[in-house]
Amino acid sequence: PLRSACVKGKFVPDWPLVVDNIDNYDKFHARGDDIWIVNWPKSGTHWMFEVVTCLTSGKAQLHDGIKENTMFPEFCPVDILDDMTSPRILDTHIQLELFPEEALKTSKIIYTVRNPKDAFVSGYFHLSRDNLVGFRGGWNNFFRTSMKEIKEVPYGTWYDHVRGYLAALENKPNALVVKYEDMIKDLKKEVRRIAEFIGHQNSEEFYDEVARVCSFDHMQKSKKELKIIWKPGGSMYRKGIVGDWKNMFTVAQNEEFDAIYKDRLKNLNISIDFELA
Ligand code: A3P
Repeated sequence: PLRSACVKGKFVPDWPLVVDNIDNYDKFHARGDDIWIVNWPKSGTHWMFEVVTCLTSGKAQLHDGIKENTMFPEFCPVDILDDMTSPRILDTHIQLELFPEEALKTSKIIYTVRNPKDAFVSGYFHLSRDNLVGFRGGWNNFFRTSMKEIKEVPYGTWYDHVRGYLAALENKPNALVVKYEDMIKDLKKEVRRIAEFIGHQNSEEFYDEVARVCSFDHMQKSKKELKIIWKPGGSMYRKGIVGDWKNMFTVAQNEEFDAIYKDRLKNLNISIDFELA
C-alpha cells in the first residue's frame, strides 16, 4: 500500500529526501538533552509528542500541529536539525539499524510499543483516508498485501522494529519503554514516569492537567489538522482505543497473524497481550 525505498538494506517511505536525510546521519550531532520519540508507525507518536512538549515547556497545552514536520528527522535535512534550539524533541519511525549511533548512546529515548494488531488497523485507516496514498483496496486486500510484502513495508515489520529496539535499549539509563495500552489505562501514571525520566518533574496537579489536555477526547476536539492531508473521515485522532482490531480481523486473519508474530517474538523481553480488548 505504501511505496518504499531502501537504505542500508532497510525499507523506509519512498518520499523526497528521506533516503538522503538518513544517509546523512553520520553528520548528525546528537545532544545529551535531545528527547527522541521512537515507535513503529501508528503506535501513538502524536500522543507521546504532546505529553513530552507539555512536560518540557511546563505548560499543559497542546502544540501547534503545523510545525510538526520539523521534528521528524527522516523528513528533515541534518543542517536544519542542527539549527533547532534545545531541548530538541525528535520523532522517528526509523529502524534501529538506521538510528544515529551517537544519539543511541547519549540522548534520551522514549520507545512506545502498541499492540501490533491495533497499530495495523490504525495504519489501514490512515493509508485509506489520506490523500497521499489513498489506498483503495479494502481491508482484506490491505491485510493480504501487507502480510505478503511484509519485509518491504516502509519502516519494516513491527516485530523486527520492536525486537531491535527492545534489545538495544534494555537496561540503558537513557531509555524508557512505554506501552500505549498503559497510557490508556492510567495516563497520569505514565505522564509522571515520563516526566521523571526526562528530568522535567512537576506537581501532581500539573500531571493531572497534562493527562486532561492529552486525553483522546480533548486532543480530537482541539488539534487542528491540515485538511489537505485527509479525505473525508481521515484524522490522526480516529478512535484512540485498545482492541479495535477485533472489529476488522477475521478469525482466519487473526490465526495467520498470531502464527507469524508469536514465532518472531519468541524470547522477547516484554509481554505483549495480543488478545487485548
Ligand atoms: P487509532 O487509529 O487506533 O485511533 P500515530 O500518532 O503514531 O500516527 O498514532 C495514531 C494513533 O494514536 C491513532 O489510533 C490515534 O487515535 C491514537 N491517539 C492519538 N492521540 C491519542 C490519545 N490522546 N489517546 C489515545 N490514543 C490516541
